[in-house]
Amino acid sequence: MSHTSNLILPSLLAADWSQVAAEVRRAEEAGAKWLHLDVMDGSFVDNISFGPQMVQVVRKCTSMYLDVHLMIHRADHYLERFIKAGADNITIHVEADYETSVSATLKRIRAAGRHCGIALHPDTPFEAALPYVNDIDLLLVMTVVPGFGGQPFMEKETMPKLAAARDHRDVHGLSYHLEVDGGIYTHTAPVARRHGANLFVCGTSSFGPPDMKEAIRGLEEAVAAA
Ligand code: DX5
Ligand code: ZN
Repeated sequence: MSHTSNLILPSLLAADWSQVAAEVRRAEEAGAKWLHLDVMDGSFVDNISFGPQMVQVVRKCTSMYLDVHLMIHRADHYLERFIKAGADNITIHVEADYETSVSATLKRIRAAGRHCGIALHPDTPFEAALPYVNDIDLLLVMTVVPGFGGQPFMEKETMPKLAAARDHRDVHGLSYHLEVDGGIYTHTAPVARRHGANLFVCGTSSFGPPDMKEAIRGLEEAVAAA
């Protein structure tokens, strides 16, 4: 998929975990093509979610593209487990600790035939991504402090950075996706679209409403009209 196409990605964090398989099917039947999976280690972020075993369970339930967002230290130490579990894209944070390095980890993800991304915390400037922009398929600009769903969209803190990333990418003829994650609803997705985003991670706004198909359609329409 090209960075000029827009996509709504439901985030499993907001699903009903008492029936994960049914929730994954609900997302697929609602028309989602990519599913976003948030891995949290209780150290890099102040919350613990799930690990490679959950990614593997989800992989067995769906053929959707699995976009795995690692909010963990030492992603390089755990990498093979997520690759084996069936992640299609693996995004790592530039602020996290590594046994090797961000660059070495990105190389290993690609060598395994998967897509790779880097993520920026709301406090991290776009410049922190510069050493990696030639080696990524996706840049995730976090629009909330990573760790929890249901937080408000940090427009002032993150939109100038998103626009700077878009401008830098386009001037240099690069083609990575620009993804936003956190507080994305029908009123905030168009703002992110106008600043360059094409991948919209939606937790509460997709899994929350009873009719997910309607929710995704509403988000798609809001983005298309931006
Ligand atoms: C937050 C996660 C998000 C989360 C977004 O740290 O990275 O993916 O699921 O949730 P909402 O859409 O509810 O803000
Ligand atoms: Zn996420």
